[in-house]
Amino acid sequence: PAEFKWEDPLPRPGVFSPVSRQGGVERYDISMTQFTQAVLPTSMGLETKLWGYGGTYPASSIVARPGRPVAVTYRNQLPTSHLLSVDPRVHGAGEDAPEVRTAVHLHGGVTAPEFDGYPDAWVSPDGETDPDSPVGYEETMYYENEQEPTTLWYHDHAIGITRLNVYAGLAGFYLLREPVENSLPSGDYEIPILLQDRSFNPDGSLFYPDGSDDEFEAEFFGDVPVVNGKAYPYLAVEPRPYRFRILNGSNGRTFNLKLYNETDDSDTNVPLLEQIGVDLGFLDDVVTVGPGGMVPTLLLSGAERADVIVDFSGFEGQEFVLRNGAGIPYAGEEFTTPGEDPDIEVDMPEMLKIEVTKALSEADDSIPAAQFLEIIGRTIDRYDFHPPVTTKGEDRSFTLDSTTLEVAPGVDYDSHFLDLSLWSEEAAVVTPTLGTYEDWEFVNTTGDSHPIHLHLVDFEVVERRAFTWDDGTGDTYADDAQDYMDGVVATKPDIESYITRGGPNSISPNNRNKKDTVLVDPNEIVTVRVPFTGFAGRYVWHCHILEHEDQEMMLPYEVVAPTA
Ligand code: C2O
Ligand code: CU
Repeated sequence: PAEFKWEDPLPRPGVFSPVSRQGGVERYDISMTQFTQAVLPTSMGLETKLWGYGGTYPASSIVARPGRPVAVTYRNQLPTSHLLSVDPRVHGAGEDAPEVRTAVHLHGGVTAPEFDGYPDAWVSPDGETDPDSPVGYEETMYYENEQEPTTLWYHDHAIGITRLNVYAGLAGFYLLREPVENSLPSGDYEIPILLQDRSFNPDGSLFYPDGSDDEFEAEFFGDVPVVNGKAYPYLAVEPRPYRFRILNGSNGRTFNLKLYNETDDSDTNVPLLEQIGVDLGFLDDVVTVGPGGMVPTLLLSGAERADVIVDFSGFEGQEFVLRNGAGIPYAGEEFTTPGEDPDIEVDMPEMLKIEVTKALSEADDSIPAAQFLEIIGRTIDRYDFHPPVTTKGEDRSFTLDSTTLEVAPGVDYDSHFLDLSLWSEEAAVVTPTLGTYEDWEFVNTTGDSHPIHLHLVDFEVVERRAFTWDDGTGDTYADDAQDYMDGVVATKPDIESYITRGGPNSISPNNRNKKDTVLVDPNEIVTVRVPFTGFAGRYVWHCHILEHEDQEMMLPYEVVAPTA
């Protein structure tokens, strides 16, 4: 499809209308269905069969206002057999479970546990639910929206098939928005941008590995950039500021983004991205991203969001491409141009063309990004002022691991884990107390970067630290970790006896506060400070590489009420 690139305009997701507003609650009724849509460039003449909320991919957005509750009834009206091939050897996807199951999660939402889309709280198209789920299934989800305005998204989270359900199209934006944001570029000038990758069969249907050959893709990378549900689209803009709410909704891919000026072949003659917001809210000050800015490129791993203002004034007639310089799998490297470093494969260098070809249709009356942030005066709650109750101790230091796992007699999958634990192990459930702060530490023992996401909470990245392996390679730890997972030895290897902690790594100013997902690079230890507020109950935390999540790289955690 690359030969047809930049042929179709970038679609804008629609906006759902509430079915009622009675009782002060905005109610939505949304069905999950199967349909076809032209995802590939139009002139290829192919349609793709998809799944989606409300009959489109991506779904229409839900636009809500902080402090005003929303209730969404999600109806599973999907077929009873999956669009993609389900691998029953993956945990939770075995014979006793219906092949098609959905559990809708509002990513970044401060949501009560019964409405959070717990992976076991699924429903089948026939209305079957899991009687053993520790969190009961609810058809109508209540979102209180007691949190700051930001870009959230809703997507599927069913145990064992999240990667397939999201890949099939079950994702959409959920914008928590205040009227004061109308002073930023809004209306036609405020555009949600969902970046994904997909692969296609020659007939236009989605391609996803089927787990034959007794293999489970460690992570999946599509070969076609798909933005807002369209392959290789272009966006025609006016010479004025725009607001882009960018979301990486890929299964396995991290993006490292910058604008490139195609007209004069330069990566310096481009507008800066003025970042005003991250995962869970507005920043306290603008972070400039681009040449001469505070941060050179915009790094977005799976599920991370960036709210940016880009001013195309003065660039009349010029063409830009949103370039990606992250390799596959991403492992913490700098922006790389294809071929520049033979060890890094950058296979998807171009995501979106932006051409400044429209005439200015009305005077721009939006206020500058810095002024907006000053007016709304979002101070970031500096968690350093709140001493954590559980100082990071052994029970809050978690390794990110990769070993093989026997999923059927004689069948070993390359698999990923948190703390060398299995999803089903009750012993692995940590229990922070409601109303306390904790420091959690992630030690990445693998060769790839992992986006680690905690449901419910808004955390601050307080430390990044390098470590080195005492044996130079990490092989000793890898062998001992494998022996532990194979049951050859009974005790988990203690990571501290294999590594030496090194100096701090810098924390990027647009990747520090108001986060719900943090990317942890190889040979790195990341510490996040987490206030456990909002609700008590059972939630999950996991790697947002969806293949890893469907392997074993997800654990429950339980916020417990304080004992009086
Ligand atoms: Cu975006 Cu647990 O999910
Ligand atoms: Cu991972």
